[in-house]
Amino acid sequence: MANLPEDLERLRLAAHSQIAAAQDPTALEQLRVALLGKKGTLTATLRGLGSLPPTERAQAGERANAVKKELEEAIAARAAALEEARRAGLAEQEWLDITFIPQDEGYGHLHPITLIMREIRAVFSHIGYTVAVGPEVEDEWHNFEALNIPAGHPARDDMDSFYVGSGALLLRTHTSPVQIRYMEQHQPPIRIIAPGRVYRRDYDATHLPQFHQVEGLCVDSDIRLSDLKGTLEYFARSIFGAERRIRLTGDHFPFTEPSVGVAVSCGICGGAGCSSCKRGWLEILGAGMVHPQVLRNGGIDPARYSGFAFGMGPDRIAMLKYNLPDIRSIVEPDVRFLRQF
Ligand code: PHE
Repeated sequence: MANLPEDLERLRLAAHSQIAAAQDPTALEQLRVALLGKKGTLTATLRGLGSLPPTERAQAGERANAVKKELEEAIAARAAALEEARRAGLAEQEWLDITFIPQDEGYGHLHPITLIMREIRAVFSHIGYTVAVGPEVEDEWHNFEALNIPAGHPARDDMDSFYVGSGALLLRTHTSPVQIRYMEQHQPPIRIIAPGRVYRRDYDATHLPQFHQVEGLCVDSDIRLSDLKGTLEYFARSIFGAERRIRLTGDHFPFTEPSVGVAVSCGICGGAGCSSCKRGWLEILGAGMVHPQVLRNGGIDPARYSGFAFGMGPDRIAMLKYNLPDIRSIVEPDVRFLRQF
């Protein structure tokens, strides 16, 4: 039978040189398992203790445990030394030159539509408007009926819609349904804008199938057309410049009465007419006094309250402000174009 104390001593010496030779934590861990793990060599040696005569067993057992502890400590010490060396090496391998000035790689920036949307929000928030939102998948009541656009109404043809599923839901064709949704939840005074995406089956140089609108709604006691005019004049001057004027002309929307089209004076000729604007005025939005039935549909008593609403296309506002000839340029990923903003 093998001599256990001798085996133990041989194992101890061999283990020390193996530990010293381990070059990384993984190798060290493999070594630990090979020595001290359940199937490790030292563990096997310890098991051999049982076959010793009882007189030798206690002493040999004590020695074996001491070796085990010694090796555990040696492994821990080696692990600490390897970690120390790794950290010391980091200073060589991973350094940061904080004086380095990189070449301009061309940073990203906000898209013109995002810029104009933010500007519109800021302009209205200065006069006490808050932002409201509604769903992009709408039901026909909110998108049409509650806005005085019953089935068969010609206005539905102007807003050729994307229906969803079996047809009771559609992608909203305008942000006006947010008027109804907001009135359902709030009594006057109401001053909101509702920016968001809208959808129509349309695509050419001035129409996109998905575009943006910003709706506005103001409902309070004694709101008049002059309030609408003052508000939109303030808006147009804030966006386009203090020298600009607005012009209201008669228009028609089923959900406002009276309805107006709002144009801003051309920035080049001031309204006289030039080759850029043709007639001196640029249409920027639709608006009007909220129809009494629409107030009623939103749960507001038209005998006590009146209001105005407006809807604009920020895509168009951006085209006018930045002089863009083709609306498609703002959805195409041409960085040469986008870089200009
Ligand atoms: N919803 C109308 C459209 O999409 C715009 C509008 C909004 C007109 C509010 C008047 C009042 O054309």
